[in-house]
Amino acid sequence: MNTPSLIPVAVINPDAASDALDAKQPDINNGTRIHATDGYFTKNYQDLEWERLWTKSWLIAGVTADIPELGDYFLFDIGSESLIITHNEEGIRAFYNVCSHRGARLVTEERGNKKVFVCPFHSWSFHNSGELRRITDEETFQPEVIAHRPGLTPLRCEVHAGIVFICMDDNAPPLQEILGLPEGYLEAYNIEQMTVVRHVRSEWGSNWKVGVEAFYESYHLHAVHPETRGVMGDLNVQYDLYPQGASRMIVPLGQPSPRAHDQETVNEGLQMMLQEAGVDPEDFTGSAADVRRAIQEGKRQRAERLGLDYSHFSDSQLSDSWATGVFPNVQMGCHPEAIFLMRFLPHKSDPERFYYDTMTLMMPVDDPDYRSPAWMGLAEGTDVSGNTRPAMEYYSLGEDAQLGMVLSQDAEFLPIVQRGMRSRGFKGQLWGEQEQRLRHFHVELERRLEIHS
Ligand code: FES
Ligand SMILES: [Fe+2]
Repeated sequence: MNTPSLIPVAVINPDAASDALDAKQPDINNGTRIHATDGYFTKNYQDLEWERLWTKSWLIAGVTADIPELGDYFLFDIGSESLIITHNEEGIRAFYNVCSHRGARLVTEERGNKKVFVCPFHSWSFHNSGELRRITDEETFQPEVIAHRPGLTPLRCEVHAGIVFICMDDNAPPLQEILGLPEGYLEAYNIEQMTVVRHVRSEWGSNWKVGVEAFYESYHLHAVHPETRGVMGDLNVQYDLYPQGASRMIVPLGQPSPRAHDQETVNEGLQMMLQEAGVDPEDFTGSAADVRRAIQEGKRQRAERLGLDYSHFSDSQLSDSWATGVFPNVQMGCHPEAIFLMRFLPHKSDPERFYYDTMTLMMPVDDPDYRSPAWMGLAEGTDVSGNTRPAMEYYSLGEDAQLGMVLSQDAEFLPIVQRGMRSRGFKGQLWGEQEQRLRHFHVELERRLEIHS
């Protein structure tokens, strides 16, 4: 049942056709119930999530850009599992990273090229098709012990829009039924042509859901990230809910927040954004209100010059952040130049920690002015040519993960939320309509966990 919006939630493009990707989606009534908070602290809840969520859902394991050649593989670790995603003769396939002999982890290097995996324990070997290749001293085994030629155990693996999804549950519906996003949404970005230019995994001091929640709304920007006030329209955000727990917000960039007093001055941040779009701020004569439009036009002109086809992108896709949530644990900041793929991975044992895993993918273009949006936090001098795939940088709890100012502010702030929510004085989260994605996420989560309240 649809109910009218209570507040005038922003619409980015009122003229968008109803089937356009920009279009404001119909409201979904997720009720007004206050959800319980034990999911953030208890081992029981963490175990329930493992049994009913992580081992039953389609999860983003990585991107095809990381395994372009035959034999390329990467590991995806989640909870107690480690999985091998390999590009073999049949395509992209996934196997449990465990030797069928005595259960040793087969592969330890996070990424590489191997057509044969050799176990480090007794050197049994396996083709990257999963098939058993050789049993060491086979003649010393009674034939019936090994008659089934034990290969690697496969699991479901599907590729969508350059993204590799896996699912440990043979009975889960196919990915297409569960993704929730409209056809063409992710495909528009040609992610398969992009390359990973940075990959960071840092440990944060809160439950993984506190991470998801913080990145699913722009309501906290004015308080936690006041520096964004000059360049992000935090009150002009379009929030959209899709089926299966998917959602997105379109955050207009290149315009001051409606909370800002100064709506005129082309401040330093706006100047930088103009520059990023190939517009020389020195030549720009408009006011702050004209910057977003200038960015859109600048990018279109540059695309033409660089031989890129932007004709299928709307103006909003060029200038704004389309922060797109794929249930359960992913948000992608989508831009024609770059995708910022963040995954909120649960900690192996501690429900009050998670791994914030971010990959910056860029469309390789031979132009020094072509760069990822500054908020993605790529350091000056990062190699964006796509020629080398940098190793994953790992930062343990408390280390500065060099994520840039905005994300570092979140990393510092989230443990404060985690600690507060633990208080017996806290009665559960009260979500406004700017936080409708949080409610949508939790309704889907409880559905998957089979919690009926
Ligand atoms: S456990 Fe792998 S060969 Fe023995
Ligand atoms: Fe934030």
